[in-house]
Amino acid sequence: MSFPDRPRRLRTTHAMRRLVTETRLHPAELILPMFVREGISEPVPIGSMPGVVQHSLDSLKTELATAATAGIGGVMLFGVPEHKDAIGSGGTDENGILNVATRLAVAEVGDALVVQTDLCLDEFTDHGHCGVLDAQGRVDNDASLERYCAMALAQANAGSALLGLSGMMDGQVAVVREALDDAGLVDTAVLGYAAKYASSFYGPFREAVDSSLAGDRKTYQQDPANRREGLREAALDIEQGADVIMVKPAMGYLDVLADVAAMSPVPVWAYQVSGEYAMIEAAAAHGWIDRERAIMESIIGIRRAGADAVLTYWAIEAAEAITR
Ligand code: PBG
Repeated sequence: MSFPDRPRRLRTTHAMRRLVTETRLHPAELILPMFVREGISEPVPIGSMPGVVQHSLDSLKTELATAATAGIGGVMLFGVPEHKDAIGSGGTDENGILNVATRLAVAEVGDALVVQTDLCLDEFTDHGHCGVLDAQGRVDNDASLERYCAMALAQANAGSALLGLSGMMDGQVAVVREALDDAGLVDTAVLGYAAKYASSFYGPFREAVDSSLAGDRKTYQQDPANRREGLREAALDIEQGADVIMVKPAMGYLDVLADVAAMSPVPVWAYQVSGEYAMIEAAAAHGWIDRERAIMESIIGIRRAGADAVLTYWAIEAAEAITR
C-alpha cells in the first residue's frame, strides 16, 4: 500500500485532534433566551422545553447571576404579559413586564452581559400576530412599524443594549434605527432577524410565551423552501443599518447561514430554536442519543456553518461544559 494522503494521522490522539480542530466554541459566543412572566412569584416550567421556565422577576435575577458567572455573551429577554390586546400595549408600556425585566437585568448584570430584548408584538397581542391587523384581519406592515418604533424607544430607555427585531415586517430595521437616532439613542444596537422562516420548530416557544396565535405567520415569515430569498432579506437588513443579522431556525437552515455568513460585513448569529431544543431533550430522555454530545455537536455545527454567535437555551450548560 502506498499512497500519500492519510487524513487519519491527524486523528490519532486526543491531543492531536485538539490541536487541529477547525471550530472552537467560547462561552462569549452563546446567548441565552429567557422568558419572564408577569404576575408570578415562582418560576413556571415549560412542558415542551424540559429545563426551561417562565421566570418570575426573582428567579430571573438568580438565573442572570448564573449566566454571568458562566461567562456567556448575553441574554435575550422575552416578556409574557398578563393582559394582551389588539395592539400589544404591554410592549410599549414602560411598566410592561419586558421593560421591567430589562431594567432589572441591566441593573443586575449589565456590565457582564449584553442585555438584549425581543422586539416583536406577538407576545403582547391577543391575536398572537407579530404585528397589528388591518380591517380585514391581515397583518398591516406599516402600522406595525409604528408600534415597533414605540417599542424600540421603550426598550432602549429601559436599558436594552440590543434590540432583536424578530417580526419580519419589511423596513423594520430602517424605521427602528431612525427612531432610535432621532431620540439620541445612537448606541442602542439593532439585530435584524434577517432570514426568519415560518417554521414548525417554533412550536414549544408558543407554549413558552402563552401564544394566542390561531393561524400561521406565512405572510411575513419566509417559506422554508427559499434559500436565495434568505440572502435578499439579509442584504436588506444590512442596507437598512442592522448591526447584527440573524438566521433562524438554525439546524434546518445551515445552507442559508453559510450563504449569509459568506457575504455579511456585520456579525451573523443563528437561533437554535425551541423545537431544536425539544427534539434533542426528548430523544435524550428516551435514551436514544447521548444528550451532552448531541447538544455540543448541534451548537458546534451551527458555528461551523458560519454563525459568529448562537442563541441557545443550553447557553449556560454549554458554557460550563466548555470551561470544565
Ligand atoms: C417572535 C419569535 C418567535 C421565536 C422568537 N421570536 C416565534 C415565532 O416567530 O412564532 C421563536 C423562538 C423559538 O422557537 O425558540 N417574536
